Amino acid sequence: MKKLIIVFFLSALCLAFFSFMYPSRSGRQVPYPEGYRKWAHIKTAIVGPENPGFQLSGGFHHIYANEKAMEGYLTGNFPFGSVIVFDVIDARVQSNTDIEEGARKHIDVMVKDSLTFSATGGWGYEEFNGNSKTDRTLTPHRQANCAGCHAQKKTGVFSNYRQ
Ligand code: HEC
Repeated sequence: MKKLIIVFFLSALCLAFFSFMYPSRSGRQVPYPEGYRKWAHIKTAIVGPENPGFQLSGGFHHIYANEKAMEGYLTGNFPFGSVIVFDVIDARVQSNTDIEEGARKHIDVMVKDSLTFSATGGWGYEEFNGNSKTDRTLTPHRQANCAGCHAQKKTGVFSNYRQ
C-alpha cells in the first residue's frame, strides 16, 4: 500500500512538472504578423455601404501573404507556417469622385499549424483591433465561426492570387 502511495505521488509530481514545462499546445495563440505590410499583396476588394456587414467590415480589404502562404497560393498546398492577413481599412469619400483609405478597423489573421490548431481545421484564426498588436478580439466561439465558414474551401483559403 505504501509503495502504491509513493508511485501515485511521484506520478502526480511528474505530471505537474511536465504540464509546467510544456503548456498545452491548444492554448497557443496566433502571433501578431509583424511586418506584414511588406509581404506579397494578394488582392484588394471593397465592401460597400449596401452590404449588411458594412458596419463591422465595410471599406477596403487588402489581403497579404508571407512567403510560405505565397507558395500555397501558387501550388494549392499551404505549408506549415503560412500566414495570411486580411487588412480592413475604412473607405472615406474624399470628393464626388474619389474614395480614400481611412483608419484601420482591424486585421484578421490566419496561421497554418495543423497540430496546434487542429480544432479549427489546421488554421489558427485571430483578429487584432485597429492598429493594436495586442488587442485580440476573438473568443474561441468566434474562432470556430471563422473556421466554419473557411471550411467551405478544401485549403481553408478563399482568395486567389492573380499573376
Ligand atoms: C461567412 C464566411 C466567412 C467567415 C465567417 C469568415 N470569413 Fe474570412 N473570408 C471569407 C471570404 C469569402 C474571404 C475571401 C475574401 C476575398 O476574396 O476578398 C475571406 C478571406 C479571409 C482571409 C484571407 C485568406 C482567404 O481565405 O482568402 C483571412 C485571413 C480571413 N478571411 C480571416 C477570417 C477570420 C479571422 C474570421 C473570423 C473572425 C473570418 N475570416 C470569418 C469568408 C468568411
